Amino acid sequence: MKKILVTGGLGFIGSHTAVELQNAGFEVVIIDDLSNAKLEVLNNISKITGKTPEFHQIDLKKKDQVVAFFENNTIDGIIHFAAFKAVGESVQKPLEYYENNIGSLVYLLQEMRDRKLDNFIFSSSCTVYGQADELPITENAPIKPAESPYGNTKQVGEEIIQDTCKANGLNAIALRYFNPIGAHETANIGELPLGVPQNLIPYVTQTAAGIREQLSVFGDDYNTPDGTAIRDYIHVVDLAKAHIAALNRLLSKKNDTNFEVFNVGTGKGSSVLEIVKAFEKATNQNLNYKIVERRAGDITAAYADTTIANEKLNWKTEKTLEEALLSAWKWQTNQV
Ligand code: UFG
Repeated sequence: MKKILVTGGLGFIGSHTAVELQNAGFEVVIIDDLSNAKLEVLNNISKITGKTPEFHQIDLKKKDQVVAFFENNTIDGIIHFAAFKAVGESVQKPLEYYENNIGSLVYLLQEMRDRKLDNFIFSSSCTVYGQADELPITENAPIKPAESPYGNTKQVGEEIIQDTCKANGLNAIALRYFNPIGAHETANIGELPLGVPQNLIPYVTQTAAGIREQLSVFGDDYNTPDGTAIRDYIHVVDLAKAHIAALNRLLSKKNDTNFEVFNVGTGKGSSVLEIVKAFEKATNQNLNYKIVERRAGDITAAYADTTIANEKLNWKTEKTLEEALLSAWKWQTNQV
């Protein structure tokens, strides 16, 4: 049985990926520092799969802790999610973001090099494209200057990995996520935003649940059909499965070059108002919303060209937007 390390494995995408790894027959080891996740997620993973992943509470920006882990564990691959991810906060606290997101990455890669470990999957983001000149966005679209320190950690992270692949023969894949939403169909795991949600879907579900009074739709004067901004919302379970596909590509040595990047989205864009309507229809809830000013830093539209991911990873999305929204709502109503 191949043993896969999932860093940040108690987080939103990490926990769903841990489940899919177990379903696919991998042995999962999770590292999480619990800075933005709860230990009970471990138990909730095992409620779904019947297996509790091995867990280590480790702070990856502490090199001694990273070294100690690898001294005692041999692994066949790493899926690296652990990172701070709040765009706005990163503007206020750039050094914390660089220390955490870049420091942890460097320490992991050093251990991989020194111990001759291979197969690294990196959690990247479509934020590297900024406002792309052409839609849908292909992997060949130019990288734009980062809008935030968070976005910059993804760009620099990819470069660090690419340099390591070149120098040390590491094989790695960066997955550029579009907008992950939804929750596991059992509602045992999902997104747990701290405080007031910054992302659209948790704000929508909390508003429908009466936790927030009203959803603010940020801007209806964009150059889009209904004036609201367009994103590519992907079900987190489909996204999780893309990691398994990427891992299998590396483990079976099917990769074309030792550093590859793939877009992971649905290929379909939805506007904020389309999301509101789709949520109302899928859940039979009325959503209280109002149009307000644009949010600083937001782009007009981003959705993926998934041709390369579909072909090379032999992966495609299986779930609809409605299923994703319904699963997010089921998860929300399962809280408390
Ligand atoms: N939006 C609202 N109201 C809200 C929240 C969001 O109208 O209360 C709108 C935003 O303006 C945007 C869309 O909903 O048009 C999606 O916003 P999210 O915050 O959910 O997602 P973003 O596309 O802004 O950000 C996401 C990830 C980031 C990542 C980025 C890459 O959260 O981590 O995609 O483009 F960097």
